[in-house]
Amino acid sequence: MGFISMIKKKQNQRRLFKGVHYVLPVNSDEIDRTHQQHYVYREIWKKDFSAPVEDLLIKGARVLDIGCGPGTWTLELGTKYSNSKFKGIDAYRWYPTTIKPTNVSFDQANVLDGLPYEDDEFEYVIMRFMMFSFLLKEWKPIIKEMIRVCKPNGWIEIMEDDLVFLEGGPKTEMLIKTITKELKKKGVETIITPYIFTLLNSNSEITNVTSKKKVSQLGSLGNKQGELFLDSLKWGAKSLFESERLFKNDRNGILTIYNEIIDDFVNECNEHPTYFVSRRFYARKTLRVENTTTWRKFFRIKRFLKGIQGHRR
Ligand SMILES: C[S@@+](CC[C@H](N)C(=O)[O-])C[C@H]1O[C@@H](n2cnc3c(N)ncnc32)[C@H](O)[C@@H]1O
Repeated sequence: MGFISMIKKKQNQRRLFKGVHYVLPVNSDEIDRTHQQHYVYREIWKKDFSAPVEDLLIKGARVLDIGCGPGTWTLELGTKYSNSKFKGIDAYRWYPTTIKPTNVSFDQANVLDGLPYEDDEFEYVIMRFMMFSFLLKEWKPIIKEMIRVCKPNGWIEIMEDDLVFLEGGPKTEMLIKTITKELKKKGVETIITPYIFTLLNSNSEITNVTSKKKVSQLGSLGNKQGELFLDSLKWGAKSLFESERLFKNDRNGILTIYNEIIDDFVNECNEHPTYFVSRRFYARKTLRVENTTTWRKFFRIKRFLKGIQGHRR
């Protein structure tokens, strides 16, 4: 790559990443973690989505996955539902660009600048695990965008967990307190699902707002699934501690003790019943917009016919 194109690429990247405040690292270890997280949540939910879109996907639909990361969900679903067209969008290009099913494609963009798609373009719009990507005030506009690009009668779905452990012991509380305090400095809220549910319920363009939850016991007390889930959360905590965007005032200090904090948390979960809640929300876009268009068309035809009659008279 020539010097000028290298500078141009850097300038473009700077423009793209301006306003992206994702706090987790973006590297090969994170690709592995995100893949693992996907399969753990599949085990917990027994399905990769909760909205009633199975028939739609079998028949053939256009699907958008916002903040697709390495594209695990997009690629898995794209392979399974070959009549549907899947699009993943992410600020970082860590999704595959060449080796992928032909019905799957990816776009790179900062979704906080608005989704680069037409109104009503997709029958199903999903967004998962974006807590570390948005400030609280950014959830409202992003949900509005999800609804805008979703076709009337189509579905939107959001999957998020709050950073809260039910019945967590003191070591677990210590871990959460340390992480939450640091995230708050960056404007990242760690309890967002009540807010998401309120936003969905107060939006008049969607209906059938549904909330589902899975409560899982962590660690060996929760059997194989509990062990897997705890492992995934442990990996997530490790990534947060290692993120160069966090603990800026005390990087050396935190890097020395984070393994200890995480090990204490894991040991405690294996001895003391601790639970974690995963949530999914889905809703259907109303037909109101289409009805308005239909009524508008009806009145236009009526006016046109009246005009002809007037002309005849
Ligand atoms: C935890 S990952 C979610 C991965 C994926 N949704 C899944 O289910 O496996 C969050 C993703 O959001 C992306 N992201 C964060 N802020 C973004 C923004 N403003 N615009 C687009 N993507 C963003 C990150 O690059 C990252 O890939």
